[in-house]
Amino acid sequence: MHTHALEMAHVVATTRTGEGRFNPYAGIHKALRAFMADTLMRVGRTDPFDDGEVTATVAQVVELMDLCAGHVEHENRFVHPALEARCPGVAGPVAQDHEDHRHHIAHLRGVAQALTSGDAAQRGAALHALYLGLGLFLADNLRHMHVEETVHNPALWSAYSDAELIAIHDEIVAALPSGEMMLVMRWMMPQLNAPERLEALQGMRAGAPAPVFEGMLDALRGLLPQGDWAKLARGLGVPVVPALMSA
Ligand SMILES: [Fe+2]
Repeated sequence: MHTHALEMAHVVATTRTGEGRFNPYAGIHKALRAFMADTLMRVGRTDPFDDGEVTATVAQVVELMDLCAGHVEHENRFVHPALEARCPGVAGPVAQDHEDHRHHIAHLRGVAQALTSGDAAQRGAALHALYLGLGLFLADNLRHMHVEETVHNPALWSAYSDAELIAIHDEIVAALPSGEMMLVMRWMMPQLNAPERLEALQGMRAGAPAPVFEGMLDALRGLLPQGDWAKLARGLGVPVVPALMSA
């Protein structure tokens, strides 16, 4: 109880420290938490006797595992060297987590893939095993991301300027294959809050080719709840209902 209160006080202090600072973890971690939670629930409700449903669920689990493996690699390659350079020792405990995640990811990927070839009569048990395993993976990752956002971030903020942090972030984004980028956008954009989403789209409008920006807008129109879409459209000065424009 007492440690929870202390931990919460630390969290509140950290978010205050980060106010107005560039937060390299916030967006991608919102995307990962949402993708993980959605996948867990999907595994939980998959009908073991419906081949199409099982195949689609397995595909989503594998997609999630690929994204998580990529995420660990990007952090190891770009973020941890930055921490080591100016905050030696800070990234040590989390580097071990990353090794554990790699094994966990390989294991869950194997369990998921076995479902597509396995006997339908045994799929119910196999799906439940995957559900439980994925649940533990979520638990580990939620704790892990929490440490990154409450220990790594303050270290980065004290050692690096926002311009430097943005440069590191841009390097990661530039290294992403386009498929991974689209998957991240699909899970990140709906999970940002309205001001964050508007800022992201304004950045895209300023920095990306017009067709990329238009494509993203089209995708979001179908993906966002109506109220979120209306706020975004108004913020960007684009029509909330495109049909009225073409009439
Ligand atoms: Fe991490």
